[in-house]
Amino acid sequence: MIGFYLLGRLTDLARWEVRRIAQRRGDPFRSVSSRFVLVGSNDIAAYSRVAYSHLYGRVWFSFRRLSDFPHLLRSSGLQEYILHHGPYALHSIGSYAPSRLAWFVDGRVNLKSPATVVAVVRAGSRHYVLAPARYLSGKDFSPRDARNRPFFHPTAMNAREARLLVNLTGVQPDESFLDPFCGTGALLLEAGIVGARVFGVDRDERMVSGAEENLRFFGLSGNVSLGDAREVSGDYDAIATDVPYGRSSRVFAPALRELYRDAFLAMYSSLKRGRFAVIVADRDLTGLLERAGFYVDHVSKWYVHAKMTRRVHLCRK
Ligand SMILES: C[S@@+](CC[C@H](N)C(=O)[O-])C[C@H]1O[C@@H](n2cnc3c(N)ncnc32)[C@H](O)[C@@H]1O
Repeated sequence: MIGFYLLGRLTDLARWEVRRIAQRRGDPFRSVSSRFVLVGSNDIAAYSRVAYSHLYGRVWFSFRRLSDFPHLLRSSGLQEYILHHGPYALHSIGSYAPSRLAWFVDGRVNLKSPATVVAVVRAGSRHYVLAPARYLSGKDFSPRDARNRPFFHPTAMNAREARLLVNLTGVQPDESFLDPFCGTGALLLEAGIVGARVFGVDRDERMVSGAEENLRFFGLSGNVSLGDAREVSGDYDAIATDVPYGRSSRVFAPALRELYRDAFLAMYSSLKRGRFAVIVADRDLTGLLERAGFYVDHVSKWYVHAKMTRRVHLCRK
């Protein structure tokens, strides 16, 4: 079992992120509390792609009362693991004070550079013991942030947010991923890094060559073409896109609403049945998405600044 302690912002999407990956892999998923979820898998590597968890790790056991901690520590094998892997640090998230828990643990402590971090997370009425716990930070993604790519445009999305959107489609390695309004290719980059075969479309020639340049710079290949989102076709495993809002990105259509309507129809027919599309806009487009045929599972508000709150639509075909 793997436990995820979710980020404190966009927490609903952070939960859906883990849930979608689990769903596509066929792993059981359980939401334990507002910030803690579990997946019935031991394949940590398959989940190391998550973007919006604060930390995650293998769950060795859980306990209700402190008096249960010492014997579970031993019977689960975690005590042996800690001794075998060198100095450890114990972190508590809403659980007992680390010193109270560490009192029962044999092994050398190193708080500055531990070989293993053991995290004890309180969720509901239980305490979950994760090891090795891996923290995610902005630094894991910042090398690919908009300003660090060779081709930049003000509408470009940063890497951590782009990864979240890609993960919300649940796309799996070797599956096909389409962004029909690809811009600088932020979503293509992250989909490529998780191993998907990426396809991008944009009506702006500068964006097409810029997205290609960005992919090349990070050692990725993809198929980026000049085209209209209203005319995409194919049979993709996943679609994620950030539509033009008519603010700083160019709109290649007489009217935004018609562009959305026709692009959603094209996306719907280009997506495999049972698969997911993630559509980002600066307004709620549920009505148009449903008219195109999508079932909208969830719409999340993503506050950007005083004048813009994005909407993230999680859609299913
Ligand atoms: C919000 S931007 C996408 C930003 C992108 N996610 C990124 O991180 O760089 C929207 C993109 O839609 C493109 N676009 C506008 N009208 C289009 C159309 N009819 N077909 C395809 N692309 C279009 C614009 O050129 C722009 O690059």
